[in-house]
Amino acid sequence: MLDVVNLQANYGAAPALWDVSLNVAKGELVCVVGPNGAGKSTLINVIAGLHRAKGGKLAFDGKDITQLPSHRFCSTGIAIVPEGRRLFTGMTVLENLELGSFLPHAKQQRSASLARVLSLFPALKQKLQSPAGSLSGGQQQMVAIGRAMMSRPQLLLLDEPSLGLAPAVVLDMFKAIRDINAQGTSVLLVEQNVAMAMEIARRAYVLEEGRIVADGLAKDLLERPEIQKAYLGIETH
Ligand SMILES: Nc1ncnc2c1ncn2[C@@H]1O[C@H](COP(=O)(O)OP(=O)(O)O)[C@@H](O)[C@H]1O
Ligand SMILES: [Mg+2]
Repeated sequence: MLDVVNLQANYGAAPALWDVSLNVAKGELVCVVGPNGAGKSTLINVIAGLHRAKGGKLAFDGKDITQLPSHRFCSTGIAIVPEGRRLFTGMTVLENLELGSFLPHAKQQRSASLARVLSLFPALKQKLQSPAGSLSGGQQQMVAIGRAMMSRPQLLLLDEPSLGLAPAVVLDMFKAIRDINAQGTSVLLVEQNVAMAMEIARRAYVLEEGRIVADGLAKDLLERPEIQKAYLGIETH
């Protein structure tokens, strides 16, 4: 469904991604893990059309989307939950959610989508009329994911949904992401929380300094000593 081939991205003259290739099949939950500064946000922003690729190719459902202008991306079936959530904090939760469904095909299904978001995140039911900025960090992340789901995406891109959240909240968040995937939406998740991300993903890629340095089934990667040492704090002798 998503094919990324030899993707390169720069900030000015400084390279941030070198020849990154990855794919997400229909229905898959794939994660990209790596340390701070590895290029995870750059990767997800290029896939979402928010940052222009310098080289390489992006294809979605067999269509070349590399040069698509960013305002056209939301109609392709890709939705992004950006790092730091980017909610309109002065607007209500309901208004934020409805912003996700402004395109005609999503607008038609707005009430069904809202019901689905509220079944994924029941805590939002009581908060629909509250300003988004008054919610806890975890609830704001639910709104950010909910807003993306309101656009009825085929592929959901998530940039560090666990960032800044308490461990118990992270657990709920990852469970909801797994439910979203189980209900048929393909997911590409980028995370620094390697242990949790690998737990829910089927396949994973490891990104370091702008390059993919390992990939495979998440359960296999978790058994590699170099991954355990670098990302899980496990020393093997
Ligand atoms: N707006 C920007 N301008 C210049 N350099 C940037 C910008 N955003 C990110 N970078 C650099 O690109 C690299 C990758 O950053 P980023 O994609 O944010 O990594 P991650 O999300 O994995 O933490 C880092 O070296 C970072 O300093
Ligand atoms: Mg980032």
